[in-house]
Amino acid sequence: MLGLLAMAHLLQRRAGHPGSRILSVASYRPRTEVGNESVAALIDSSDEWIRRRCGIESRRRAAPDEDLVMMATAAASKALAGAGVDPADVSAVLVATMSHRGRATTAAPLVAEALGATGAAAMDLGAACAGFPYALATADALVRSGAAGHVVLVGAERMTDIIDERDRGTAFLFGDGAGAVVVGPAQTCEIGPVVWGADGSGSELLRYDEAGILRMAGPEVFRWATAIVPDAAGRALQAAGISAADLAAFVPHQANLRIISATAKSLGLGSHVQVATDITTNGNTGAASIPQAMAALPDTTGPALLVGFGAGLSYAAQVVTLP
Ligand code: COA
Repeated sequence: MLGLLAMAHLLQRRAGHPGSRILSVASYRPRTEVGNESVAALIDSSDEWIRRRCGIESRRRAAPDEDLVMMATAAASKALAGAGVDPADVSAVLVATMSHRGRATTAAPLVAEALGATGAAAMDLGAACAGFPYALATADALVRSGAAGHVVLVGAERMTDIIDERDRGTAFLFGDGAGAVVVGPAQTCEIGPVVWGADGSGSELLRYDEAGILRMAGPEVFRWATAIVPDAAGRALQAAGISAADLAAFVPHQANLRIISATAKSLGLGSHVQVATDITTNGNTGAASIPQAMAALPDTTGPALLVGFGAGLSYAAQVVTLP
């Protein structure tokens, strides 16, 4: 005990920063756009049913040359250029993903290498469709503690690799792509306190089958989401010390337009608040959906409320200042 106490005096603490902020946001969308008709043909569905049940009109599907690391690197590279940060000055690369397949155990070291972020720590973060806000809370903590200076955070998914195109419950929902932000030090807190949680008792509702294909109990997940998303959103606003009227944008995970609309209504968002509806032409891109939807917001600055939710079951929400 005495030894431990004595050792504690030898350890220095790194100087941190008062706050952190998002410096830039960028997105990579695969070249191929796939409309509802061709998806519906394989699952005895229709364009009309898909639009009515989830609001999706089309999604992007990655071509063979658009692998997860390539898409993540493209989004991250654009974000670094937007922030004016040299890859050599990046101290951590975080990749939030649930669909990384291939020989490498983690995607982040490959993304760091492709970026030229040779001095960076690199790790994947697995919290499925809540992955982006989970990783953003991690990046914020790393910067404020002084463990990192600039962090590149990418949400990247190649859902095509983990979806069964003949599964009526999922084939029409998911798309491929990547979204990235650069997080750096700030004098004020521009990434608000995270409100997060998980319920492992619901893990079977979204799971991989024996072949590694994602299976979902849609109606049950829908019911959970319509309860947890407004609750987490309200608590994140409270934690940040602002009200819904102060928001410039609401950017929830793009899982279903009905969940997005129901939450916007329950929060009483005014018409001045930009509600992200990227799902209509992008589908559900898992951990990539929030940064991709942020990148698609038309010229919006100010506070934005982010909420991620999905497999785990996991959720996370925070208010950020848009760059
Ligand atoms: N095309 C046409 N009809 C379909 C269909 C399809 N792809 N899938 C199911 N149906 C039918 C069902 O058989 C059912 O018919 P019935 O009323 O005659 O029994 C009816 O449509 C309703 O099916 P249901 O599964 O209850 O649809 P839904 O309204 O729940 O919508 C989802 C399905 C997947 C869009 C919805 O459940 C959802 O969005 N779930 C949550 C997704 C989510 O948030 N995921 C978390 C993050 S990834």
